[in-house]
Amino acid sequence: MEHMLTPKDFVGKQVLVSAGPTLEPIDPVRYVSNHSSGKMGYAVARAAEMRGASVTLVTGSVSLDPPVGVETICVQTCQDMADTMLSKMAHADIIIQVAAVADFRPDHRETLKIKKTSDQDRMTLTLVQNPDILRTMGERKRPGQFLVGFAAETHDLAANAVKKIKKKNLDMIAANLVGGKDAGFQTDTNKMTLFFKDGSKTDIPLMDKQAVAHVLLDNLLTRLDPRG
Ligand code: CTP
Ligand code: CA
Repeated sequence: MEHMLTPKDFVGKQVLVSAGPTLEPIDPVRYVSNHSSGKMGYAVARAAEMRGASVTLVTGSVSLDPPVGVETICVQTCQDMADTMLSKMAHADIIIQVAAVADFRPDHRETLKIKKTSDQDRMTLTLVQNPDILRTMGERKRPGQFLVGFAAETHDLAANAVKKIKKKNLDMIAANLVGGKDAGFQTDTNKMTLFFKDGSKTDIPLMDKQAVAHVLLDNLLTRLDPRG
């Protein structure tokens, strides 16, 4: 029923979405990651599919069912996600990088489980910076392709969002303040501000993540290059 009532305004569009956290192994049983649940990215993928797009979802490890009708590819690390996104991006009209990519990974992965010793009261883990997937996609973006980033910030939302648009060559960034109880990583609701490369912005008030996804797509559609 929901499907039948949704406008089919994304027919003919190829949409590539990423979701969830990346997970950076320390040893065979441990990893470095973050609190992303994948709910926002899955909501965007589902909304685009409902509106007629052909959707590919590249997802980190989450406990959500794959959306019906969406090609879903599971990845683990930032490097896996980078390889998959970069190999798929050429076919996409719209790329929406919702994933919470770990900025750093352990400098090497132990092949055996790390054991503690009785005289050891601390351990040091060395992390190295991961590649910036979105920035690389921004460098490779072709004319007409529309590139969207997400940003969760604790402070200076607008200034940070505008900086990321420029640095990563984005068309739009969806930014939200984290730390509140209604919006963010594990919740079913979200509120955010969409910033565009022309300097304009739109607030999306607190609503269900599925509804947020549709408003985001409404805004994106009005900004698409008609030649794209
Ligand atoms: N991103 C990415 N690859 C990374 C880090 C981030 O593709 N290695 C993407 C995220 O998926 C998101 C956007 O970049 O769409 C913004 O992520 P964010 O963490 O807010 O920005 P960073 O550039 O990592 O800066 P910082 O964490 O210092 O705020
Ligand atoms: Ca980051």
